[in-house]
Amino acid sequence: MTEAGSSASAGLAWLAAVDTPDDLPTPYAAIDLKVLEQNLAKMQSFFRGKPARLRPHVKTHKSSAIARMQIDAGANGVTCSTTDEVAAMVAAGIDDVLLANVVTDPVRLRVLATTAKKANVMVAIDSERSATLLSEAASAAGATIGVLIDYDIGMGRNGVVGMDEAVTLARTIARSGGLRLRGVMAYEGHLVDVADRRERDLKVREAWAPPIAVYEKLAAMYELDVLTGGATATYDTLAALPHVTDIQAGTYVLMDTTYRSLTPEFEPALAVVATVQTVRPGERVVVNAGAKRISTDWGSPQLAGYDADFVYTAEEHTVFRLTGPDTPSVGERVAVIPGHACTTMSLYRRAFACRSSELEKVVDIDARDPLA
Ligand SMILES: Cc1ncc(COP(=O)(O)O)c(C=O)c1O
Repeated sequence: MTEAGSSASAGLAWLAAVDTPDDLPTPYAAIDLKVLEQNLAKMQSFFRGKPARLRPHVKTHKSSAIARMQIDAGANGVTCSTTDEVAAMVAAGIDDVLLANVVTDPVRLRVLATTAKKANVMVAIDSERSATLLSEAASAAGATIGVLIDYDIGMGRNGVVGMDEAVTLARTIARSGGLRLRGVMAYEGHLVDVADRRERDLKVREAWAPPIAVYEKLAAMYELDVLTGGATATYDTLAALPHVTDIQAGTYVLMDTTYRSLTPEFEPALAVVATVQTVRPGERVVVNAGAKRISTDWGSPQLAGYDADFVYTAEEHTVFRLTGPDTPSVGERVAVIPGHACTTMSLYRRAFACRSSELEKVVDIDARDPLA
């Protein structure tokens, strides 16, 4: 097996050799704390002296403990994608939270309004109806919720389109009880995997022209203080755009094989430790972690420390094709780096955070949906 840290793919192989409690079966999620801290420090140092600030997206790890590390490193509050994440962050004492998603479920609206009484909470909306629902929930709870107009810049998910829609929605928000218009949000999710970084930069700048124009128009009508968006692949582009205040990068902290090629300045810190079940020398290796333990919705997992290509994942198995001379043994523990960290972390209730060959702490993944 390759030595710890000798290459990006091998770097996490050592996690499989860490002593863990006797009753801990594989597969489990393991984190290289040193790499995680390096990623935190690298991202935070990028923002030093810049007008835009980092508001990390906690959907990546769904852990208030890791969010706390991000705040301690200098982040400007956090970004969430669900009300479970908002509630967990506020319960952990994080008092500046953006829900970068539209909420229309009545139970979730109640949770949001309740947390908004305890912390500075902002949420994105994109329709008159969502403004009404949010206003009713805020008024019923006696809360004031900060509101951002979500603008669709081409992803085709949530968001208003065009100046007229944005201005009309702003007027509705401004006269709705319990709501305070804070600004504009957009998300360039359809551009984050443009492989060439210069091309990505140009396309993101072009896509962001409309929400910037909307922000300028609305800022002349209302007192605004937030223009937010951005991701791990685009944080540097966003930080250079006019008026942008908060950048929502998430994956940079744990990274995965997909993001590794898009932003090589950050290193994978998350692996799933699995056990080898079947070896056909020169042919394939099968490990006991499948799609129920390693997500494959975006990119392919990688077997750390071995030359092997991902073949496929079944519910409880992942199959790799060996391409080099080294072959793991049946029963050996191995580390598998996910293709998508965020959807892998949410498959676990805790992660085992390790440093210098040892388990240092168990991290609760406490912001998951309790029904999941
Ligand atoms: C609204 C929003 N903001 C930001 C992000 C960026 O996250 P990441 O840095 O993990 O790509 C996402 C990713 O899904 C998102 O949905």
